[in-house]
Amino acid sequence: MVGAGISTPSGIPDFRSPGSGLYSNLEQYDLPYPEAIFELQFFFHNPKPFFALAKELYPGNYRPNLAHYFLRLLHDKGLLLRLYTQNIDGLERAGIPASKLVEAHGTFASATCTVCRRSFPGEEFRVDVMADRVPRCPICTGIIKPDIIFFGEQLPQRFFLYMADFPMADLLIIIGTSLEVEPFASLSEASRRSVPRVLINRELVGPFAWSPRHNDVAQLGDIIGGVEMLVKALGWTEEIEDLVQRETNKDVL
Ligand code: APR
Repeated sequence: MVGAGISTPSGIPDFRSPGSGLYSNLEQYDLPYPEAIFELQFFFHNPKPFFALAKELYPGNYRPNLAHYFLRLLHDKGLLLRLYTQNIDGLERAGIPASKLVEAHGTFASATCTVCRRSFPGEEFRVDVMADRVPRCPICTGIIKPDIIFFGEQLPQRFFLYMADFPMADLLIIIGTSLEVEPFASLSEASRRSVPRVLINRELVGPFAWSPRHNDVAQLGDIIGGVEMLVKALGWTEEIEDLVQRETNKDVL
């Protein structure tokens, strides 16, 4: 299970870190309160703040970091049952197939007209977003919204894979999330009590803080340092360095 904290080392702000988090830096958008930027009612009243933010966060301008490559290595080793992410930056796709990924809060990869509900591929409305234009449906002129899950919207069907996955998991790793947003946060309690839960995060969050289990493990502090320690303990340091090298060269070529 991962959240915005795994992408801050890639240069993307998270939401709630005091000072640096997105929700502390939205004054320019004149919102009634920060979360309004992801609320449908406000979006229909004024979609510009969301699209301005979307332009800033848009996938394509950032690169995966060691935390993403650690998840990729788990997959390469056949150890990743599923990766549940709250992130919309798409960085987890660094070599992890869609079948192993649950993008619980949606994605920019596709979009839907808010009036006639027609679906559009992501690249079609990217041009408008980058040109500071509110994307409009060519058929009914309704506003086209990326398939990012707004507060109150139904999560993607794939989220409900958790009902089969979590009882099967024999280890739960949680990285870079405040575990503040439901229903995603409750997944942290869905693994069997006999299964260890490992938190890699700056601070204790969710049940690790208020109802820890005897076999919980928390590696607190910077995520990159925490992942490096886990990788070292697993004896995978050389392997992950080779993986990062290969993938970084691919990016450059
Ligand atoms: N090292 C360690 N911890 C970090 C780092 C870092 N470099 N960067 C951030 N963190 C931690 C923060 O301390 C915080 O506990 O990651 C967590 C990020 O929490 P949030 O900013 O709340 O992000 P997230 O949990 O993903 O938010 C969940 O809220 O607004 C909604 O839909 C949005 O998906 C998002 C959801």
